[in-house]
Amino acid sequence: MQHLGRRYVRYVNDVYRRTVTLWEGRFKSEIEQALGGRQVRRSVEGRRIQLRSQLGKRAGVLDGNRPLSVRRSRRGSGVGIIQRSSLMNADNHLDAAERCLALGDNDGAWRECEAALVVHPDYPPAHILMSRIALPGPDYIEILAALLACLRPRTYLEIGVSSGKSIVLAGPQTLAIGVDPAPKIRFTLGPNVRIFQTASDAFFARQDVIGLFGGLRVELAFIDGMHHFEFALRDFVSIERVAAPGSTVLLHDCYPLNRRTAERERSTVFWSGDCWRLIPALKKYRPDLAVNTIATAPTGLTVIRNLDPDSSVLSKCMEEIVAEFLAADYDMLGADKPGSLNLYPNDPARIQALFAGA
Ligand SMILES: C[S@@+](CC[C@H](N)C(=O)[O-])C[C@H]1O[C@@H](n2cnc3c(N)ncnc32)[C@H](O)[C@@H]1O
Repeated sequence: MQHLGRRYVRYVNDVYRRTVTLWEGRFKSEIEQALGGRQVRRSVEGRRIQLRSQLGKRAGVLDGNRPLSVRRSRRGSGVGIIQRSSLMNADNHLDAAERCLALGDNDGAWRECEAALVVHPDYPPAHILMSRIALPGPDYIEILAALLACLRPRTYLEIGVSSGKSIVLAGPQTLAIGVDPAPKIRFTLGPNVRIFQTASDAFFARQDVIGLFGGLRVELAFIDGMHHFEFALRDFVSIERVAAPGSTVLLHDCYPLNRRTAERERSTVFWSGDCWRLIPALKKYRPDLAVNTIATAPTGLTVIRNLDPDSSVLSKCMEEIVAEFLAADYDMLGADKPGSLNLYPNDPARIQALFAGA
């Protein structure tokens, strides 16, 4: 355990822990500039936001809804000889993967990560490195920061707050509400942020969301709560009802790395659950929505636009839709996972285009 912990911490420090400077733009058109980061440092007006990216700092990258399996399973008796040797083998493969990457050989690095997972199936450094190879560029928290800074929504609703790392990015001009049955706030939140310690279903059943926002509809929402399809679907339905046609809903974790980390039952530290099923469900039942999954690490950020607060298609067929897509196997993504999940380039100019007219 200590071995994995040391290795993991060193690894995520190297790969992820970096200071990212983003700027709060004055105009929506600055989404591209904000995401462009360092290159546009001199040309962007506005307040600088120092954002220390925490992605991967601990296994809470995808800390989901329950304690980390690695801690739970290895607590007590310690790591046995077989497990220690499998970890060391996995480390060797990771070293080889890093050497491949240094030589620009991404395919080789990928194969070494896969080999590491064969000997040690729950090995977060391999999963993280694979997600960075598959989804390069700014990570989800950088994109969320840029969207919040540039869109400057008057209202922001976040389902699944955890440490507060994402909701803290809402600027003072934004009224922000976070919903989480077990928040573990580690960031200092401003007076514009209110946290409701409850599950999202209960929140929507009991609260008048528009009333909480002083009569304003939700302009930007981020769904990152319970990582099961039916929960994400219900969250979307409840949010669309209190949004406006020009609002945006973001969904986290809808572009899974692989089958194992996309299962409903969590067996790996790196885990995104089965909320990916929401994308094919929306494509089938709500073709009127604009659904695009930005190819951002660790597991995508889906942007949903062209909302219809009056639509009852999903709520009327909720049970059938849940049954239909829970029955669908990961194989339904087939040979074209990017096409099935509407993968969209992680490119500032292209992302900006998604918000034309916003
Ligand atoms: C992955 S974390 C959120 C991370 C955070 N948005 C971020 O980017 O740092 C998921 C959170 O969802 C919360 N959660 C679980 N079930 C939920 C539910 N039914 N409604 C709202 N939040 C839920 C968990 O308590 C957990 O804190």
